[in-house]
Formats: sequence, structure tokens, C-alpha cells
Amino acid sequence: MSIVHLNTAGAGLMSPRTVEAISAFMSREATLGSYETELEYDELLNRQLYRRAARLLNTEPGTIGFFSSATEAWVSILSKLQFPKGARVWVSTSEYAANLIFFNYLKQSRGIRVEVIPATDQSPLDLDWVERNISDDLFLVSVSHIPSCCGVVNPIEALGAILRQSPALYVVDACQSLGQLTLDVQDIQCDLLTGAGRKFLCGPRGSGIAYVSPRLLSRLALNFADLHAAHTDGLINHVAVSGARVLEIAEKSFSALVGLHNALDEYAQEGAAMATEPYALLTGELKRLPQLRLLCDGYAQSGIVSFVPDGMPPQEFVARARELGLNLWAGTAAHTPLLLKDLGATHFVRASVGRRVSVHQAELALEKIRQIL
Ligand SMILES: Cc1ncc(COP(=O)(O)O)c(C=O)c1O
Repeated sequence: MSIVHLNTAGAGLMSPRTVEAISAFMSREATLGSYETELEYDELLNRQLYRRAARLLNTEPGTIGFFSSATEAWVSILSKLQFPKGARVWVSTSEYAANLIFFNYLKQSRGIRVEVIPATDQSPLDLDWVERNISDDLFLVSVSHIPSCCGVVNPIEALGAILRQSPALYVVDACQSLGQLTLDVQDIQCDLLTGAGRKFLCGPRGSGIAYVSPRLLSRLALNFADLHAAHTDGLINHVAVSGARVLEIAEKSFSALVGLHNALDEYAQEGAAMATEPYALLTGELKRLPQLRLLCDGYAQSGIVSFVPDGMPPQEFVARARELGLNLWAGTAAHTPLLLKDLGATHFVRASVGRRVSVHQAELALEKIRQIL
């Protein structure tokens, strides 16, 4: 049975070429030795990879760092930022729960004040509210571009344009939009943008990317630099690497990075446009089904569509779909607690459409969904 994979928001399917790149690297490690293979791949791992990610985000390679996940990137970087006591922080309604947990710890340790940028009926971010409430004491604004629960698209460029009026740092969690929507950090005007390699980019698990603006980098208090970036005579540290790489950990999954390098290459060649039609078809047809309640239906969405089915737990719905060869996912409302606080259910069914899903596969998925209902 061939599988229709609509769980790219969990992890996208790697292409045969990406799998081949990873296994060629691993085979080489097994014959030549891991450190020796790393030396052979020096150009790819230390230069091409950074150039590719930089091109994707329209930035310089020195602003790019690689991590093992989006959360590791986001948390390890923001952990190096000194939040002033009582700092004022804004978050989006789409905020990912791990980010909120981080801010809650800072409420305890630094007494920061976290305010939620309200939504309107048309937009997940009320930009008029932002204009009215922005002030010089705003320290940081954090927005999840697309939440993990559905395809709501936050207007990050418009928000960035307003935030330029204030000294606030601007952080974008692009985990669900990286590889799905165009992300240009010059347009967004953000200080930090993070994402995972495994989702819409269709890279391997264990890879995360961060863009760090020179402004943010200069404000981070380095509490550590690993040995790819620093050395010591035992008493004094000498940091030899400039740019976002100083934030990385030296030991990485190099095979994952080789796979990510290929996935970035493929994305640059293919673009994301291929998924637009199957996504529109799927969403349009799901809206017609009276047995489903679509999440955040009033907002413009992309790539992900979620629903609560009548009379069947989402976990059971997803298990039935899997038996029929359709990969959906039972999303957890607690992962996007602000946006889904009124959902009235702990879980929902999430369908996410990667760029290689065809219209035919979207039709097959709809057939299977109707069969379950
Ligand atoms: C919006 C958002 N941010 C962050 C993450 C965390 O990504 P990772 O699992 O790579 O840490 C996710 C994961 O699903 C997500 O959906």
C-alpha cells in the first residue's frame, strides 16, 4: 500500500537524493573514519551549507548557525540574552508552548512581564493594537510565523516594519514556515529566526537552523563557546570565530547536516509552489464536510489544515487513517495554548501538505477521510 503523507508539519519525507547523500556520508564514515570523513566534507559542511541557508533567508553566511532542533536553536540563543528585570515582552497568540515555557521561567527569575498581542477576526495579530501600544520600554517581541496547530499565517513583515520604530528585539519562530513560505530576513527585519530542517524543508531529523542578526549577536552574553570557536591557555578564553557559529556546539550530527545541505539545494531548485493546489483542494473539500469543525477557519492559512471530527476522538481518527495508508497527525492543543484555549478539545486532526504532495494524492486523502467519517 502506498502512503499519502500529510504530516509534513511533523516531519516531511526526505527525497531519495537526500537519503542517498546521508547514506553515502555514513558509509564513508564506516570505512574511512568519522573525523576523516568530516575532513573530506570540509567544503560542504563549513562553507556550502552556510551559503545555502543564507541564500534561502537572504542574508550573509556569518549570520547562520546550525543546531540539532528548532527548540535548541531558539532556547540556547535566547538563554544568552540578558533580560532586564521587569522587561516587557510581547508574544503572538500562535506562540509555540516551549517558547512560552521559556518566558514563564523568566517571569520567575527576572520578573519579566509577558503580554499577548491580541488577534482580530481577520488577523492573528492586531497590528493597530501594536501601533497603539508600542513604546521604548518594549524589550522583545516573539512571534510564531505559523503555529504548530494549523496553517494561520502571522503577518511578520508588517509587524517587523512597525517594530522598527522601537528598540525592541524581534524573534520569529519559523519552524512551520521554513521551506513552505518565502522567508527574507531583510523584509521581516527580525533579529532571530529559527526553524527545523525536518519539516517543510524535507531534511533529516536532528537539524535546526538559526539566523541571528548582528544586533542580537552583539547583545548576547556568551557564557560558553565550544572548541570549534574558542581556545584557552587554561586561564583566559580566546574566541576565534565571529558570527552566529560561535553559538553552535562543536559536535553535531554531520550526516544530518549533509542531508540538510541536499534538502536546501532541492528546495532552492523546486520552490514551494507545487503544494498550493493540493492544499487548496484539500482545504476547500474539508470545509464542505459537515462532520468536521475546522480550526481557525476565519484566518488565511497555508500548508496545514486541522479539524475536530464529530463523534470520534482525533487519535482514533488518525489511527484509522493510518490503517488506510493516510498519514495525518493527532495534534495536541496544549502545544499552542493561547490560540486554542477555547477549542474545547485536547486534540485535533492535523493534515499538512508538503510541496511534493500531488493533486491526485490530495484527492486520495479526501476519499479516505470521507471513508472514516
Ligand atoms: C511553531 C513551532 N515552533 C517550534 C517547534 C519545535 O521544533 P523542534 O521540534 O525542531 O524543536 C515546533 C515543532 O513542531 C513548531 O511547530
